[in-house]
Amino acid sequence: MSDKPVMTTSAGAPVSDNQNSLTAGPRGPVLMQDYQLIEKLAHQNRERIPERVVHAKGWGAFGTFTVTQDITRYSRAKIFGAVGKQTPMLARFSTVAGEQGAADAERDVRGFALKFYTEEGNWDLVGNNTPVFFIRDPLKFPDFIHTQKRHPRTNLRSNTAAWDFWSLSPESLHQVTILMSDRGLPVSPRFMNGYGSHTYSFWNTDGERFWVKFHFKTQQGHKTLTNAEAEAVVGKSRETYQEDLFGSIEAGDFPRWTVYVQVMPELEAEKTPYNPFDLTKVWPHGDYPLIEVGVIELNRNADNYFADIEQAAFSPSNIVPGIGFSPDKMLQARIFAYADAHRYRLGTHYEALPVNAPKCPVHHYYKDGSMRFFRNDAGNPDLYYEPNSFGGPTQDPSVAEPPLRISGDAARYNHRDGNDDYTQAGNLFRLLPEGEKARLFQNIAGSMQGVPQAIIDRQLAHFDKADPAYGAGVRAALGR
Ligand code: NDP
Ligand code: HEM
Repeated sequence: MSDKPVMTTSAGAPVSDNQNSLTAGPRGPVLMQDYQLIEKLAHQNRERIPERVVHAKGWGAFGTFTVTQDITRYSRAKIFGAVGKQTPMLARFSTVAGEQGAADAERDVRGFALKFYTEEGNWDLVGNNTPVFFIRDPLKFPDFIHTQKRHPRTNLRSNTAAWDFWSLSPESLHQVTILMSDRGLPVSPRFMNGYGSHTYSFWNTDGERFWVKFHFKTQQGHKTLTNAEAEAVVGKSRETYQEDLFGSIEAGDFPRWTVYVQVMPELEAEKTPYNPFDLTKVWPHGDYPLIEVGVIELNRNADNYFADIEQAAFSPSNIVPGIGFSPDKMLQARIFAYADAHRYRLGTHYEALPVNAPKCPVHHYYKDGSMRFFRNDAGNPDLYYEPNSFGGPTQDPSVAEPPLRISGDAARYNHRDGNDDYTQAGNLFRLLPEGEKARLFQNIAGSMQGVPQAIIDRQLAHFDKADPAYGAGVRAALGR
């Protein structure tokens, strides 16, 4: 008798033979009653779920968030409750455009998604490694993503589509500059910053609201690849991010990021020369300095990639008392889009999957549906409505967010009216060292291969407006 456990069917019955199909005679045919063969093939047919429509290729790990500075004057969120307090968390990094099998070392924005399992529910901060984004109106997001994905006829990525859209959308210039700069191609997620990007809000126990931006600065330092280095890397391995992140954590070399916030008192939002809710803008550090909050450390690899990373569902809609949204139009759309994607990609009760399940008590009245594998009503099987007379969970007005002052007539406002798309892109260009500027020009020129001249000319005019040296540099790199 072997000391290994006995293999069973999924219904728990012991399996006598996992090597040979059940056949009528040694040459076959196979009998239909070979349930184990059928189950094995049927399971294989269901091993894939839809990949994320964006950010399909990703790398993740578990870790801890530790508070190092007191910010309770800004937020009542218990996660920030005391210096030294630790909260378990999950991080998933990703590229945006590539499919699940894409190579890791490709030039692209990187996702920087965090899930904090707080005692008041899960707080997800679903950011990028860039502080801004390509667009400021969510109505343009599907159009923008189409330009990053495959052309319907050629089934190839299209430089023409990308530069056509960017050149017609000058608000993209700031993000395009970051993408084409050195930081557009990090060596691995360990060597990049993360940003919440949007403006969110904090509110404290006195009911005061502050606008807030989140920053995660790598403690490993920035390390990036040139396009030529990346080609050599991809030629040897397409999985360098997974190897680096998984390998360093496995070796006990835990990556860390220092967490900072920029904080703006609620009413100051009406006074800044830029719209502080515009996702294509940063808040200059000189105006809103970074305030240290804590540190995140990734220290545990997932035991099962599919269960813990592929099934992870991050959503900007997951906030906790003390943390809130802002009027940012892009954020507003994301509050809808992610949970909708999760219901499609993972199923109705995706929040109950172990990786997404809060580590605090959960009491809701959502019932039934496919994969209703959990109980939220133990001892009260009949409680499927509220209010009720049987001691079911009720609301808690003490966690109500302070009222938000808003005004304005409902209309489709031109989001390009009165917006300066050039100054901050130019500021970034001007802070780049000369060598990085030269690589920026080359990266842009390289990605314009095959793009019609009229589109290139339209884009060159944007570079000129950000800084005449920017336009001149790209022109020279294009050989003009
Ligand atoms: P600061 O001089 O105070 O900050 C410069 C910022 O630029 C730092 O966050 C720094 O990040 C980042 N940075 C430095 N080198 C590079 C690089 N090669 N590629 C990309 N980012 C780099 O100036 P401001 O706050 O006035 O911002 C000036 C410009 O810096 C902005 O227009 C924006 O493009 C960019 N920036 C600003 C951020 C902000 O939140 N204010 C955040 C990130 C970029 P680090 O400290 O990690 O090196
Ligand atoms: C993933 C929509 C803008 C960061 C996704 C997904 C959708 C989506 C549907 C897939 C979710 C899933 O299947 O789990 C949108 C829409 C946007 C938008 C509609 C704008 C209107 C942004 C911005 C950022 C961002 C501005 C960063 C600041 C991410 C990240 C992921 C993601 C990091 C991957 C999350 C993970 O690792 O699971 N987005 N997105 N997105 N998005 Fe967005």
